[in-house]
Amino acid sequence: MRVPLSGRLAVSLAALLAALVLALAAPGAGAEVYEPQVVGGEGVPSGKYPFIASIQSSRVDTPSGHFCGGTLIDRDSVLTAAHCAEVIGARPSGSAPLYYRDVRVVVGRTLLRSDQGQVRRIESFSDIRIHPGYRNFAFDAAVINLDRPVGGIRPVRLATARQDFLERPGRMVTAAGWGNTVPQSLVDAFFGTGGLQIPNRMQEVSVPVVSDRLAQQTYGALDWPYVPRLMVAAGRSDLDTCQGDSGGPLFESTGGWYTQIGITSFGLGCGVLNYPGVYAEVNAPKIRSFIVRAAGL
Ligand code: ARG
Repeated sequence: MRVPLSGRLAVSLAALLAALVLALAAPGAGAEVYEPQVVGGEGVPSGKYPFIASIQSSRVDTPSGHFCGGTLIDRDSVLTAAHCAEVIGARPSGSAPLYYRDVRVVVGRTLLRSDQGQVRRIESFSDIRIHPGYRNFAFDAAVINLDRPVGGIRPVRLATARQDFLERPGRMVTAAGWGNTVPQSLVDAFFGTGGLQIPNRMQEVSVPVVSDRLAQQTYGALDWPYVPRLMVAAGRSDLDTCQGDSGGPLFESTGGWYTQIGITSFGLGCGVLNYPGVYAEVNAPKIRSFIVRAAGL
């Protein structure tokens, strides 16, 4: 997500240097800090993941005003990241950069600049529900109730507490969205030099789940808040989500059914070795119960 800066983590120069040293010193890292493909993904054929939402506002300067992803979890509820919902305000010129009446939620669309899918709005500001525990990227979950139900799209299922096996390190899972496709090294992340390319076509990438231990080790060394019981890490040096993918899903496909494991949340740069993408853990009891209640599932 680009426009709203409020949710971004501040990185100190010291932290950046520490990360560089760590990335370079890690076994097998060689001299390369990142591979030149951020997402390392591929275009999604139109209509493949209709449950994935694009959250948009005419105030945002990207194709169609896209600024975050989301997922349809029942006929009229979209799950997204709290740091995405947080930038939507109750008033046209309040402290939040976007006004809720200027926000559109689009599902069933693959090409941002098209009229594919169904467009919904937010009827009242109170239809945006942010996890009450949201702080510092912990509990990065929010539910938006749509002004009217969506037809003909099967919602994604939420992983249950008994599906922890879906998060076993090394397992390949999918992430998708319209996030930045330009590589973001540690230096780019710090100085904002990497560039921004929001693709017109939704991209998907298959990423390996990374152990909580590794993520905690690398992010922890920077004082970044990786919380194992609330987060899942996934990605490799050349395979990752990026800015603009937030709020979208980390998921599993089995025979036409989709199970959501994570909500795209944060990362240091994009595709940086040893700094996998971090996702809010959908089946963490305190996250899942919030979602179920907020959506009225
Ligand atoms: N916070 C980002 C957003 O707002 C998502 C970043 C994901 N980063 C990553 N390296 N996986 O879109």
